[in-house]
Amino acid sequence: MADERQNEQEFDDLLADFHIAQAKKAAKQAETAPAKAGPSPEKTNVRPKSVPRYAPADMPRKPDGTSYSIAELRQQQASRHAVQGQRTPYGELPPEKPLPPRQDPRSKNERARRQSAYEAAYRQQNPGQNKPVYKHRRVNKPNGALVLFTLLAILVGGLSIHQIAQNRSEAAETTPSVPVSDPAITEADTSAETEEPAPEELVLWNTTEVSNTRIDEGSLLLVNYQYPYEKADTIAVKDVYGNKNKYYQISSTAISLTEITLNAFNTMTEAFYNETGSDDMIIVSGYRNVQSQRDIYNDRVATQGEEMAAMYVANPGYSEHHTGLAMDLSFYTDEGKQVSIEEYEHGSWINEHCHEYGFVLRYPSDKVDITKISYEFWHYRYVGIPHAQIMSEKRLCLEEYIEYMKEYTTETKLLWIQGNGMMADVSPTALPSEGILVYYVPMTEGETTEIRVPRGNIFHDTEISGNNADGFIVTVHIGS
Ligand code: DAL
Ligand code: ZN
Repeated sequence: MADERQNEQEFDDLLADFHIAQAKKAAKQAETAPAKAGPSPEKTNVRPKSVPRYAPADMPRKPDGTSYSIAELRQQQASRHAVQGQRTPYGELPPEKPLPPRQDPRSKNERARRQSAYEAAYRQQNPGQNKPVYKHRRVNKPNGALVLFTLLAILVGGLSIHQIAQNRSEAAETTPSVPVSDPAITEADTSAETEEPAPEELVLWNTTEVSNTRIDEGSLLLVNYQYPYEKADTIAVKDVYGNKNKYYQISSTAISLTEITLNAFNTMTEAFYNETGSDDMIIVSGYRNVQSQRDIYNDRVATQGEEMAAMYVANPGYSEHHTGLAMDLSFYTDEGKQVSIEEYEHGSWINEHCHEYGFVLRYPSDKVDITKISYEFWHYRYVGIPHAQIMSEKRLCLEEYIEYMKEYTTETKLLWIQGNGMMADVSPTALPSEGILVYYVPMTEGETTEIRVPRGNIFHDTEISGNNADGFIVTVHIGS
């Protein structure tokens, strides 16, 4: 067994060396940027041969590698929109198949799976940080015995009220009338019995000042046709080649991502490998500066026209590839064949599980009216774990999520995400003692914005992300 593992290890190392040599040769030939110095590329797989320069980044292709015509793409888009029951620019078509069933987040297995995925991802992305211990809590799940008890309580309560009312009405002949029962109060009391009360903490708030120049820093930046990314050419990114694990491929040694995105991607691909045994996933595009986005845009206009370019490629300066938080994915098999996510055997795993690692499908087929970008099954975006979970649960695209979060402020209510993925609204004056809190702080005029964060030993790991539009989203991890 040990020998077998060693053989496998040696074989993997040989294979990796071979791929690295190939990659270097290809990179030199294509005059792409040379690989940057990095840690030992042991186990690093690079398979650049025959992967087209910009495909599938922003461009779906047929299995034989040729391009679809605009008419074919329109037809595909129309049927995808129709599946989601949406009105589309191409008219309405009857649904072809129902939406895929969603896992019940309250089921025991699903809760356990979410929790362990969350914890593994958290540990990997926050090395050395204290991970709060999450307890499974039942909040919304109805309990048979409790429901029965509640019904009995209502019945007994109702009879007593009736009795009191009768007594009072008899007494009313001599005393002024007073309301006997307020239906609203009775209802609230009853519903309170059906839920476990949240453990409450007396909350004190600290105030921290954040420079408004940080409005375009963080994992929750909205970059789209309305909101350009000003730091496109200046952000710090890491080359994937020198920092990747062995569970996926890259199409070029020049691909880079922000560190947090790369860490999360490494975690996700390791989980993908563990569950499917496949190391065929390949990143074909990551961070782009404004000039490379311009090249892609111009290339698309020249080869397929402006209409096609507008459907799939953001204007230079307006692409979220500029943030280093986005990537285009495909699969590259051992036989040297590129297979799209939609066609690959285990491709659906990505969309089903990416939110557990902080990623979202950025341009879904049913949000084209909002994103103004056609369905891109290959483009994934890092937003961070709790946010990806919320977006997935509520089926919100990033534009919608940024708006949705504005309901949650320290003056109104906060969004609480428990370790098992369950969500609830909580009052800013009585916070739970475990889980994650999320809320929004609008940017104020001037140079800085005051941000309130809860004070106390159990509130830690506060992250503040600008939304690149008009405010900041605060994420507070709670735990002992
Ligand atoms: N394909 C996406 C929209 C981009 O070009 O950024
Ligand atoms: Zn993309």
